[in-house]
Amino acid sequence: MSAPQKDDKSAEPTPVKPDAAKPEKATKPKAPDAKPEKAAKPEKAAKSETAAKPKAPDAKPEGAPASAFLAACRGEKPSHVPVWFMRQAGRSLPEYRKVRQGVPMLESCTRPEMVVEITMQPVRRYGVDAAIFYSDIVVPLKAIGVDLDIVPGTGPVVENPIRSVKDVESQLRDLEPDDVSYVTEAVRGLVGELKGTPLIGFSGAPFTLASYLIEGGPSRDHRLTKELMYRDPDTWDALLGRLAKIAAAFLRVQVQAGAQAVQLFDSWAGSLSRDDYERYVKPYAAEVLDAVADLEVPRIHFGVGTGELLGEMADAGADVVGVDWRVDLADGIKRVGSKRAVQGNLDPTVLFAPDDIIKAKADAVLKAGSKARGHVFNLGHGVLPATDPDALARLVDHVHAYEVR
Ligand code: CP3
Repeated sequence: MSAPQKDDKSAEPTPVKPDAAKPEKATKPKAPDAKPEKAAKPEKAAKSETAAKPKAPDAKPEGAPASAFLAACRGEKPSHVPVWFMRQAGRSLPEYRKVRQGVPMLESCTRPEMVVEITMQPVRRYGVDAAIFYSDIVVPLKAIGVDLDIVPGTGPVVENPIRSVKDVESQLRDLEPDDVSYVTEAVRGLVGELKGTPLIGFSGAPFTLASYLIEGGPSRDHRLTKELMYRDPDTWDALLGRLAKIAAAFLRVQVQAGAQAVQLFDSWAGSLSRDDYERYVKPYAAEVLDAVADLEVPRIHFGVGTGELLGEMADAGADVVGVDWRVDLADGIKRVGSKRAVQGNLDPTVLFAPDDIIKAKADAVLKAGSKARGHVFNLGHGVLPATDPDALARLVDHVHAYEVR
């Protein structure tokens, strides 16, 4: 959840990237700025608006090394197990805290040069296989005029919570690309900087966005959200329907500017029973995923504490299902099924363990992941602010050294 994250400004060691990957990884340039499969080609050059939904016919220029991340998402064999981290760009990095000094969170998201720099920081430092766009799930809401802010240590806080159809209509209009021109500019800048490392665009899913809008801020039990869901289906449908359109529009902007994958964060869906998820939430998540299917980029769908919902979340239509750390990955893979890849799922707090424990637990995830249709290594939720960046650097090297069978 939001609240437990602590800003631990003092404890970060200076960035020193250990380049001690296993020998065979020496082939992979591991300079601070380099990426294993790095190539100066945009993998999805052809993202036509006209093509049908099935996976793109891979418009890779010949000779261009494939992205391990995109390959794993598509269920193809990658050169190595790809890895990136949710919240890799952010407070665990001293260079992030430095750049952000004196700049409020939401303002930082509207400054393209800052967004490019912050998005690039973990890519340079760790050589991860994908970048996650630096923004926030509430940015599109702010962009259409919702009065909200991100309060440090708390999360998004909404001035006038939405609790009626009238509120929906007065506060939530459609998102137009011009509302977030700074996103387009930043994504374009990033595609140039990333030199072939895929950029993941993202959006909050309708339920998670609705929860902030209805509660007015972060919530432990989502009581007001569920109450509205049960008591007032008209408002619920109006709200989630509108949010689905906004989320889809926000994803389209990012992909059309050059993002090569998208992740739909339904972070708080795990508060729902499977029955309620299926009835009140899944149709709207499915609507978002379907609305970007024609863009032919891998779609990742993730939520925290969603072990019981994995089958339903898979069924909502993603190509990759994110699995949180509470679930044994082998079980998660069974629940997701053989048609989709999985992402995950090392417990973020394992990074505070001694190195041998981190490695053993990462190996267990890697071994389980090898049985999936595709496996993107990640944490089971975001990097905690107090995490030692060097531990993440060593983990990336460890994952990259794992032999793909
Ligand atoms: O590497 C990345 O993932 C960076 C991009 C990113 C941010 N937020 C930046 C951010 C992404 C993908 C998000 C998504 C997001 N935002 C989610 C879904 C992911 C998840 O964690 O489940 C959610 C639920 C939010 C809402 C939100 N925004 C929360 C809960 C918080 C933390 C509040 C706090 O201070 O503890 C934010 C603020 C936020 N978003 C920060 C960052 C780097 C921290 C603010 C800061 O640095 O001042």
